[in-house]
Amino acid sequence: MQLVVLVLVLLLLVRESDGIGRSEEEEKCENENEMKKRPHSVSITEFGAVGDGVTLNTKAFQNSIFYLNSFADKGGAKLFVPAGRWLTGSFDLISHLTLWLHKDAVILASPNSDDWPITDPLPSYGRGRELPGARHRSLIYGRNLTDIIITGDNGTIDGQGSIWWDWFDNKTLNYTRPHLVEFINSTGIVISNLTFINSPFWAIHPVYCSQVTVRNVRILAPPESPNTDGIDPDSSDNVCIEDCYISTGDDLVAIKSGWDEYGISSGRPSTNIIIRRLMGESGRAAGIAIGSEMSGGVSEVRVENIQIFNSRTGIRIKTSPGRGGYVRNIYVSDMKMVNVGTAIRFTSLYGEHPDEFYDPTALPLIERITIKDVVGEDIKIAGVLEGIEGDTFLNICLSNITLNGITSNKSPWNCSYIQGFSDLVSPEICEPLKERIYPEHYSDCYHLSNHLRTSSSNQNRGAWLFSW
Ligand SMILES: *[C@@H]1O[C@H](CO)[C@@H](O)[C@H](O)[C@H]1NC(C)=O
Ligand SMILES: *[C@@H]1O[C@H](CO)[C@@H](O)[C@H](O)[C@H]1NC(C)=O
Ligand SMILES: *[C@@H]1O[C@H](CO)[C@@H](O)[C@H](O)[C@H]1NC(C)=O
Ligand SMILES: *[C@@H]1O[C@H](CO)[C@@H](O)[C@H](O)[C@H]1NC(C)=O
Ligand SMILES: *[C@@H]1O[C@H](CO)[C@@H](O)[C@H](O)[C@H]1NC(C)=O
Ligand SMILES: *[C@@H]1O[C@H](CO)[C@@H](O)[C@H](O)[C@H]1NC(C)=O
Ligand SMILES: *[C@@H]1O[C@H](CO)[C@@H](O)[C@H](O)[C@H]1NC(C)=O
Ligand SMILES: *[C@@H]1O[C@H](CO)[C@@H](O)[C@H](O)[C@H]1NC(C)=O
Repeated sequence: MQLVVLVLVLLLLVRESDGIGRSEEEEKCENENEMKKRPHSVSITEFGAVGDGVTLNTKAFQNSIFYLNSFADKGGAKLFVPAGRWLTGSFDLISHLTLWLHKDAVILASPNSDDWPITDPLPSYGRGRELPGARHRSLIYGRNLTDIIITGDNGTIDGQGSIWWDWFDNKTLNYTRPHLVEFINSTGIVISNLTFINSPFWAIHPVYCSQVTVRNVRILAPPESPNTDGIDPDSSDNVCIEDCYISTGDDLVAIKSGWDEYGISSGRPSTNIIIRRLMGESGRAAGIAIGSEMSGGVSEVRVENIQIFNSRTGIRIKTSPGRGGYVRNIYVSDMKMVNVGTAIRFTSLYGEHPDEFYDPTALPLIERITIKDVVGEDIKIAGVLEGIEGDTFLNICLSNITLNGITSNKSPWNCSYIQGFSDLVSPEICEPLKERIYPEHYSDCYHLSNHLRTSSSNQNRGAWLFSW
């Protein structure tokens, strides 16, 4: 069994390097900040940092960034982190800064929770995600910033999360766990060419941000580590995630937009999100997820060229009465899955409310979800698509989906309170989606109008993100 999976994965990899997944006209996220040259540069060692893995360098990071702030209006500056193991607590970034890691540089997070100060809960959550009240500040933190780059020659940012996972498991946390990187209310962010390992909680969390590019990063955490999501764009727009490998204990990418009544009143959607050429595994969760916090709305999401293996779920939408908000205009195409429990899952009674003040009559609007060109090997259940009674999910369109190896003796598709259309789905689709897309219903389906044309030839490359 394992060998079969390995062989299949290798086959997929070989096909990938043959150029099937990487055509010459491969699109790239465009972010005008990406290639910013910084006229000033300092090394962290000039501020007394010691890369021995033992000396705490929080002050050196803070002092160097404070110094570099004087160059913010002179084209910005670069903070260089040379080879070494640089132990540090949380530090804040500034605008017009590049944090650049040498290939043998490791920024090593302090395992002492006192080195992770407390910060306010997000307005769209009303409280910490895990515990009421405040939360620990991320290792690398930025607020109200513009034009920030975190990159390098494949260096590493290591959260040393295992102690946080223990505190979580044995219920001795005082505040919600921190992220490795969090940006709040910031614009023009590039995170590239790095490896992130063992985040205490979600690894990369842009919230209330715009123009965010995450490219060519690897995010790793053990499959059993709790809530170690890879990248969680949250109430953010114009986000592009591409060419990443993510293997963690929770969702690889989870698009969010706030939680129940707090998310509804904040009203900050996540929109214009691209995720492409992503590969990875999530033993306990999903490859690509939306929610469960989606109360500010999620729309205009394009997911393409994804490979998910050894995972519980391939693609998942999570919501609940009380969330309100919407998930609409979602397009997933060209996805391969190997050894996945449930290929497609809509969970409509997710629960998990911030407090007792949520409004159970605030029902989410889920509509215009298109999933096409999916192949799966060694899939256990094709799909569990559950809507909400009295709140049917509308215009769910499945096209050209072939899922092999279904072992469950339950029906491969289990659909309730959903409406939509399908073509070319194997195994045979459930009754509510039986009506065909072509020729009458393609305009009911999100972005299927040019389904029969090749999509990459007529792109307007000048536009930021959505160029179809
Ligand atoms: C967001 O940041 C800008 C500065 O970049 C600031 O003017 C604005 O007040 C901030 N908004 C919030 C809600 O923090
Ligand atoms: C960000 O902007 C908000 C609103 O202007 C302000 O309250 C907050 O102090 C700022 N935070 C930082 C870290 O600049
Ligand atoms: C980055 O490092 C990882 C392992 O440390 C390696 O597998 C990968 O090929 C490296 N990437 C580049 C571009 O050097
Ligand atoms: C919880 O885990 C931490 C970190 O491993 C450990 O130091 C502590 O003793 C544990 N506490 C309990 C009550 O098990
Ligand atoms: C929680 O607070 C107690 C009391 O201040 C402290 O002893 C303990 O170390 C804290 N736990 C964590 C995980 O920070
Ligand atoms: C990241 O690596 C790629 C490939 O090695 C390189 O083309 C690109 O310029 C790098 N990006 C940055 C910001 O250094
Ligand atoms: C169906 O999807 C596969 C990829 O999974 C693709 O190669 C094939 O061209 C698609 N067929 C149609 C009719 O679009
Ligand atoms: C479908 O899923 C529901 C729970 O969501 C379960 O109660 C029911 O037995 C399932 N039906 C089939 C045919 O698998």
